Amino acid sequence: MAYELIEVRTEAGKVGIVTLNRPKQLNALNNQLMDELGAALKSFDADPAIGCMIITGSEKAFAAGADIGAMASWSFKDVYKDDYITRNWETIRGIRKPVIAAVSGFALGGGCELTMMCDFIIAADNAKFGQPEIKLGIIPGAGGTQRLPRAIGKAKAMDMALTGRMMDAAEAERSGLVSRVVPLDKLMDEALAAALVICEFSQIAVMAAKESVNRAFETGLSDGVMFERRMFHALFATADQKEGMDAFVNKRKAQFRNE
Ligand code: HXC
Repeated sequence: MAYELIEVRTEAGKVGIVTLNRPKQLNALNNQLMDELGAALKSFDADPAIGCMIITGSEKAFAAGADIGAMASWSFKDVYKDDYITRNWETIRGIRKPVIAAVSGFALGGGCELTMMCDFIIAADNAKFGQPEIKLGIIPGAGGTQRLPRAIGKAKAMDMALTGRMMDAAEAERSGLVSRVVPLDKLMDEALAAALVICEFSQIAVMAAKESVNRAFETGLSDGVMFERRMFHALFATADQKEGMDAFVNKRKAQFRNE
């Protein structure tokens, strides 16, 4: 697929990087961009050499939300029956390898929701998060009212969804929305370093860890713990478990083969 609204590259042959690239509209998300993003992530997911992915935007905007100009004239039939906007937003949830959001500038509306669909968020110190849909007479439509309270609790999620105010990077880190805040000029270095760490590990164990943590948001504690236990047991069937433990015992670096 030829990409027009994103740029796609790999780093060290192991990290798949997608840069949202619609600068004049602050990376406003339209169907074409989301189709391209989904296709790029799926192709990285299917590539055995890739161990981790990063989604990033520009210094000024990760993404300022869904494209308001496109949405302005849509009817209920357009968005409900013909599924104009949300049809491809959940693609990212099906990606099995880790996806890091490296966020600078605005991450608003659908942009904020996109960051929350990633596995974790590394933010530059100029990042701003918000769900300003209420100002447009709508509400978040790609998981914002569900993932935000899970990430930062009801009080702050309600505050954000009802007032539409933005949260800066420091507040986002304090609240648990982002895992790390770094100076703007270090953002990609930090995200790449984290991705390369992940790439060193067994892809099977990494995928199992991702699936297990995600299960915490889908199920109750007992079922979640049981899911984790079975996944933990299953990893003893992998060559990588033997390799990882043998390497530790023999004081050498593990060489995982993803088997
Ligand atoms: C379309 C957008 C846009 C958007 C910005 N632009 N956000 N175009 N959709 N979401 C365009 C502007 O129209 C402008 O184009 C250019 O980008 C630069 O934006 P400015 O407003 O001039 O920049 P600035 O003054 O720095 O303000 C930045 C901003 C503001 C605070 C981010 O642009 C803003 O409030 N944007 C809207 C944010 C928002 O409401 N997001 C939620 C959308 S609803 P021109 O041509 O004038 O230069 C949503 C629903 C998700 O996301 C549903 C998911 C299924």
